[in-house]
Amino acid sequence: MSPAQADEDPLTTTSTVTVNGTARIVTAPAHRSLLEGLRDILGLTGTKSCCAEGECGACTVLLDGKAVNSCLVLCVESDGHEVTTIEGLSECGPTDLQEEFLNAGAVQCGFCIPGQVMSAEYLLRTNPAPSEPEIREALSGNLCRCGGYARIVAAVKETAARRAGDHD
Ligand code: FES
Ligand code: FES
Repeated sequence: MSPAQADEDPLTTTSTVTVNGTARIVTAPAHRSLLEGLRDILGLTGTKSCCAEGECGACTVLLDGKAVNSCLVLCVESDGHEVTTIEGLSECGPTDLQEEFLNAGAVQCGFCIPGQVMSAEYLLRTNPAPSEPEIREALSGNLCRCGGYARIVAAVKETAARRAGDHD
């Protein structure tokens, strides 16, 4: 549906969203979530859909730099805003954080990890030297069904140390 047609349909919205640095036009029914817009309309399937009700964190993206559950944000609410997905985080290859997830053996599945990485990245940008309780609190909205939290926390700690220049 063209933007002009969308204007004629009150149940359809057209949003201009900067996704991973590029302006994108997303035309979607008014009830569609940002998660659905990213995955189903823009084809950015790195962001995972699981509970679709704000419980698991698998759909975490950065909205204007802040970690959010994209299943709880309407597409139209992202109009005029900036979204960063896991694809945008790693445009130049795996980030240091992703490398540390691998080094720590924290990646047991491909489902929760993109959301874990986005939440951890947000934490490290806002708190470069988090304590373990702060890491656990920051990731408390991201469920790992296999219980791999110790390794995930270790990966975040290692990334913080690496960014601080404590080691390579
Ligand atoms: S899919 Fe959004 S929180 Fe679970
Ligand atoms: S690593 Fe994905 S559920 Fe545990």
